[in-house]
Formats: sequence, structure tokens, C-alpha cells
Amino acid sequence: MRHRAWAGLERQAPVTVEVHVRPGDALRALRAEVLAGLCGDCRPKELSPKWLYDERGSELFDEITRLPEYYPTRREREILEAHAGDIARASGADTLIELGSGSSEKTRLLLDAMRGAGTLRRFVPFDVSERFLRQSAEAVAGEYPGLRVHAVVGDFGLHLGKLPRRGRRLVAFLGGTIGNLKPPERARFYSELAVGLEPGEGLLLGTDLLKSRERLFAAYNDRAGVTAAFNRNVLRVLNRELGADFEPEAFEHLAPFDEENGWVEMRLISTQPQAVKLPTLKRYVNFAEGEVLRTEVSCKFRAEQVEAELAAAGLHLTERWTDAAGDFALSLALKR
Ligand code: SAH
Ligand code: TRP
Repeated sequence: MRHRAWAGLERQAPVTVEVHVRPGDALRALRAEVLAGLCGDCRPKELSPKWLYDERGSELFDEITRLPEYYPTRREREILEAHAGDIARASGADTLIELGSGSSEKTRLLLDAMRGAGTLRRFVPFDVSERFLRQSAEAVAGEYPGLRVHAVVGDFGLHLGKLPRRGRRLVAFLGGTIGNLKPPERARFYSELAVGLEPGEGLLLGTDLLKSRERLFAAYNDRAGVTAAFNRNVLRVLNRELGADFEPEAFEHLAPFDEENGWVEMRLISTQPQAVKLPTLKRYVNFAEGEVLRTEVSCKFRAEQVEAELAAAGLHLTERWTDAAGDFALSLALKR
């Protein structure tokens, strides 16, 4: 036993970590957002989705990916199982950067394909959730002896300019997380990413496609209540970080599809009139009965729309794959 552990250590290069979001910065940003987004006349009250993913939130999201109703993860995995080899060849990349990497579970299919193609050298998981990122990066390093794993703690809304420049890079952005950015943020994201890439480097983008509102509703309002727990967890984050006294059970989870905007909207709805105390901000936040706190949107796309938006940023579609049911798309777009 001891001997095997030592043999493993010999082959596993240490994971390196680069931190662009320090806990103090995150707390300052959260305070500013709460002041701006939960103000008296903010309609709806709103927080950005990154606060959902503390350690507990990241674990709950992982549980969501295994729910029977939550199809995106399985569909994207199906596409990767069929086409990871094509992606490795078409990109020619030796460095895989993954934005919003979470558990990097599906990413192993890409790493396997790049290793199979003989090109794999470096993996750069990038996520805002530091502890979960460190654990996931260690797990990958343990499974891929000889792979250099360099984790980056960053916010893809702020730190795309800090992506490591070494190697021939493919940036993977999976899970449909791009849909969590609203259209203007999304356009900014694509152009900032494109500006930092060299010609021939590119983006592998997972997008959830438009489908019936019944299936969308089921995926984001699961019967077991895991998505509800994930959504309410943000209130626990506010309690912990700001000393607030939110009662998570006094808010109901609802994630309806908004036809006009083409997105699923994750809401916490106040079940009663209530005043929540934010002692570190010296403030109360008032909720009317039925008032909405919006915690995330998840845009659903038409494949041609994705192609057009990428092209507008200078990222040109090389190939696009969908699952057999046509639920989800993976697009590979390269900078010219
Ligand atoms: N890619 C994984 C996880 C998706 S969940 C999958 O496909 O299953 C979204 C991930 O993005 C979480 O790990 C979350 O911590 C991260 N994330 C959310 N907002 C972020 C931001 N602004 N910057 C960087 N990472 C972010
Ligand atoms: N990135 C996931 C998605 O857009 C996050 C998520 C899980 C989510 N459950 C949600 C977003 C419910 C909005 C509503 O699918």
C-alpha cells in the first residue's frame, strides 16, 4: 500500500494554482452586488449566479447533473463520447483550458482523446469556486500521470485577460454555462475571449437548445427538490458571508421558461412579507409576499444563433455536433 502511494507520487506532478479572486475580493464584490441588486426599488431583485457555487452549491449542482429530468449533462456527454476524437484532431491543441470547470467530469473524455492523439500536455481548469476547483484539479492530476495541471481561480466575467498563454490552446466552456450570461454579457465574453486567442486556437462551446417548455420546466424544477435546495443555498451564502438572517424556507423555488427572453429563470419567491437583516451592511431588505429574487438565467439557443454570435466576435465555426435527440449542441469555433 505504502509502496503504491509512493509510486503514484513519483509520477504525479504537483498541481499549481493561480488565484485572481481572493476571499476578500469576493466578499467586497458580494457586498457591492447586494447593495446594487437587492435595493428597495430593484425589480426584480437580482444576484449574479456565481454566488450559488460555494462548496455546498457546487456539490448540489453536481447532484443536479445526475437527476433524471436534467438532460443537458447526459446529452453533452453523449456528444463528447461520439466526437471527442474529432475535437482533439480538429483543434490540434496541447493545452485544454476549461472555464467554469466544476468537477471536470465530462472533460475527462476530452483529455482522453487528446492523450490518444498524442497532443495532451497541459490542463487549466478555471473556476470561481476555489475549494471545489482545488479538489477537482487534484483528482484529475491523480488520474493523468504526467499531465501538467494548472488551476486558475478566476471570474470569467473579469479575468479572461489572465488566461495562461502557453501552448496551443483549446478553451472548453461546457454545460450550457454560457447561457447563464445575458446577451450583452455574452457578447462581451465572446469578444474578450477571442481577443486573447491566437489564430488557430479556439473555443469548444456547449449550448442547450430550445425545446418544449414542459421539458425545460421539468429539468429546472425537479421532483426531488435538488434544484430548489441549490437555489436556496444562495441565501445560506448571504447568511454566512454577510451575517444576514434569511430563512431559506420562507422562499419558494420556481424556474419558469421566459418565452420572450428565451431563458429559464431561476427565482426565489418570498412566501410572506418579510424584512431581512443585513447587519454588516447596516441595512434591511424588504420583500413583499410573492416578490421575486432572481438568482440565475439559463438561455436556450438555436444552433444558427450561436454560430452568428461567435462569428461576430471573430470565432468561426469549424464544426457543430448535436446529440441524437437534438437537445444540446457542441460547437467548435476557431480564431482566424
Ligand atoms: N462545467 C461543469 C459545471 C457547470 S456549473 C458542467 O458542465 O457540469 C457552472 C460552473 O461555473 C461552476 O463550477 C461555477 O463555480 C462556475 N462559475 C459560475 N460563475 C462563474 C464565474 N463568473 N467565473 C468562473 N466560474 C464560474
Ligand atoms: N448552468 C446550469 C444551467 O444553466 C445551471 C443551473 C442548474 C440552472 N439549475 C438551474 C440555471 C436552474 C437556471 C435554473 O443549466
